Amino acid sequence: MKVNVISRSGREVIKGGLELSDSATVADLQEAIHKRTKRFYPARQRLTLPIQPGSKEKPVVLNYKKSVNDYTGGNSDTLTVVFKDLGPQVSYRTLFFFEYLGPLIIYPLFYYLPVYKYFGYKGERVLHPVQTYALYYWCFHYFKRILETFFIHRFSHATSPLSNVFRNCAYYWTFGAYIAYYVNNPLYTPVSDLQMKLGFGFGILCQISNFYCHILLSNLRSADGSGGYQIPRGFLFNIVTCANYTTEIYQWLGFNIATQTVAGYIFLVVAASIMTNWALAKHRRLKKLFDGKDGRPKYPRRWVILPPLL
Ligand SMILES: NC(=O)c1ccc[n+]([C@@H]2O[C@H](COP(=O)([O-])OP(=O)(O)OC[C@H]3O[C@@H](n4cnc5c(N)ncnc54)[C@H](OP(=O)(O)O)[C@@H]3O)[C@@H](O)[C@H]2O)c1
Repeated sequence: MKVNVISRSGREVIKGGLELSDSATVADLQEAIHKRTKRFYPARQRLTLPIQPGSKEKPVVLNYKKSVNDYTGGNSDTLTVVFKDLGPQVSYRTLFFFEYLGPLIIYPLFYYLPVYKYFGYKGERVLHPVQTYALYYWCFHYFKRILETFFIHRFSHATSPLSNVFRNCAYYWTFGAYIAYYVNNPLYTPVSDLQMKLGFGFGILCQISNFYCHILLSNLRSADGSGGYQIPRGFLFNIVTCANYTTEIYQWLGFNIATQTVAGYIFLVVAASIMTNWALAKHRRLKKLFDGKDGRPKYPRRWVILPPLL
């Protein structure tokens, strides 16, 4: 069969189109495009079916697992697909690794190195126990996230645009440095011993719960990331859709109760608002997927992220 590959403006991307066998899959088509263009490896390609000019409909995105023939609508001889270059891609593991590596390295620099001398501080720096525990807590958190990235999460999307590495690193690395600067500051005033213990104790409990939530999520898929989206069940997922975000937010609250800096609370508010937006979208998606129609289960009543508010 013949496949014409055009850009969104209608220009031919592959001169003369491609000849594929009738049993070819979309993955084969992507490989064939890669072979001809050299630059556009499969993860960079987004292939859709053409839509009428001016139409507000969302185009059908070709699924790499399906046969190309499935998209011909009965006319098995030719198919026209619209090609979009998604730009350079990186694996999700690479993206997460770099965004977490920054805070893991930057934070200890403020604790161990005499950086405050360069900010004009001349006196002898006396470290409070809370600053040492905060360092352990912080490093444990980001080390855990890196381990989860490589050994627990089962991502459904293979890659993410390279530009996200710069955006996400800017977010995590800047907040890491901002919080580290204030918590390790020679002029830092510690909270009471009881408040510190309550904060870290609560935070560690939430970090362990967050880890358990991630195990429950990974059990919803097979090791290669297939299995799509399922209804998360068990532990806090029985009451809240994004229990992993709930525990993430509360573990930062624990850190802030113990360390009490404006920088830490600003990060908490920003992180909570980002996760709330994502949680609303995830909750909507699960309700749509599990609508109780045509034999599909109905998504149970649950809070989105922060019971009893949302
Ligand atoms: N501090 C911050 O600013 C901040 C922000 C975001 C996240 N985080 C932390 O990083 C962790 C990971 O973040 P994330 O946004 O990647 O979490 P996520 O999307 O909720 O999920 C983690 C993993 O579980 C999978 N998953 C989620 N819901 C699923 C379902 N219903 N069925 C099957 N699999 C499902 C996801 O698959 P997909 O690959 O398909 O998505 C992903 O591989 C969070 O839990 C949180 O602890 C922190």
